[in-house]
Amino acid sequence: MQESISREQGDINQSPLRQAYHDRLDAATKQLIEDDASIFLHQALSTPVMNVLSKTEGPYIYDLQGRAYLDLHGNGVHNAGFSNPYVTEKVLAQLQQSLAFTPRRYTNAPAINLAKKLIEITPAGLDRVLFCPGGSEAIEMAVMLAKQITGKWKTLSFWDSYHGTGFQSAALGGEEHFSNGQGPMVPGAFHVEFPNYYRNPWGLTNTDDIDAEYLRQIKVILQRNPDMAALVGEPISATPVVPSVNYWVEVQALCKQYNMFLIFDEIIEGFGRTGKLFACEHFVTPDVLVLGKTLGGGLMPFAGASGQLPAGTIKSPSGSLPHHWKCGRQRFASGD
Ligand SMILES: Cc1ncc(COP(=O)(O)O)c(C=O)c1O
Repeated sequence: MQESISREQGDINQSPLRQAYHDRLDAATKQLIEDDASIFLHQALSTPVMNVLSKTEGPYIYDLQGRAYLDLHGNGVHNAGFSNPYVTEKVLAQLQQSLAFTPRRYTNAPAINLAKKLIEITPAGLDRVLFCPGGSEAIEMAVMLAKQITGKWKTLSFWDSYHGTGFQSAALGGEEHFSNGQGPMVPGAFHVEFPNYYRNPWGLTNTDDIDAEYLRQIKVILQRNPDMAALVGEPISATPVVPSVNYWVEVQALCKQYNMFLIFDEIIEGFGRTGKLFACEHFVTPDVLVLGKTLGGGLMPFAGASGQLPAGTIKSPSGSLPHHWKCGRQRFASGD
């Protein structure tokens, strides 16, 4: 069991086919793979690399020898295709307008337009936006918002989930790869299992019974932890399970009952990956929707959180979030 958990998502292909794949790479490619291994810090799940890319275009990635591979993974950044000409043109135009950075306490029209667009296309009620460089930071922002508004501090999230690499976002994550060897993460991070309709420990097969058991686990934790600020999860678990609508309806009811935020991480699932523009549209509208990856068009790190924020609800002395990102209003990716 431990073995299968630690190998999850990594390079699990140890067969002769992996060796054959490596053997057919040319000398220049092999040299760059060696250079990469000796120069970059190694990361769990990302090292060793398998090949060297010369370009990425549309749905394809190309290696140095010109072979094209259909990229079915793409880290979730290329919903509009790699190097999408429209996106590239808009980003280049913005860079050339000499307004590449907007200092703190100023704003700019393209960033406001992008925020308005997000408010328009996300479910009703999500009407406040803040941008930041990456998904991990956007998750941290969302949790910070939940803590400020509820005045509470603990979090509940799912085993086997991934929400990023910051200390708060890694504390939410439910896999050892992301916090291993780091000592204590942000305290108060509780985890539950995501509903599993195919293989669950009780051998249950009826969806309602399965939901009831997983919801019972959440209730037990909430009853004993009144200082819970937020439940954070992907609407559809990337591990991967599609929950019932009832599951999220009930979870949202519990969040309301216990005065805590429901935060959906759609950094991977957002922007049309589940048959609707946002995965939450299959279920319920969260208090905060976190977006990333494809928001930057695969050209730059860019992410954001969109939330429902009743006026005057932030409990800090200034009534604002603690200072967060210098790029909260950056115009990158804010094409017309
Ligand atoms: C579901 C999910 N949340 C958060 C993140 C973190 O985003 P980033 O890598 O932009 O920090 C990722 C990254 O893969 C992710 O898949």
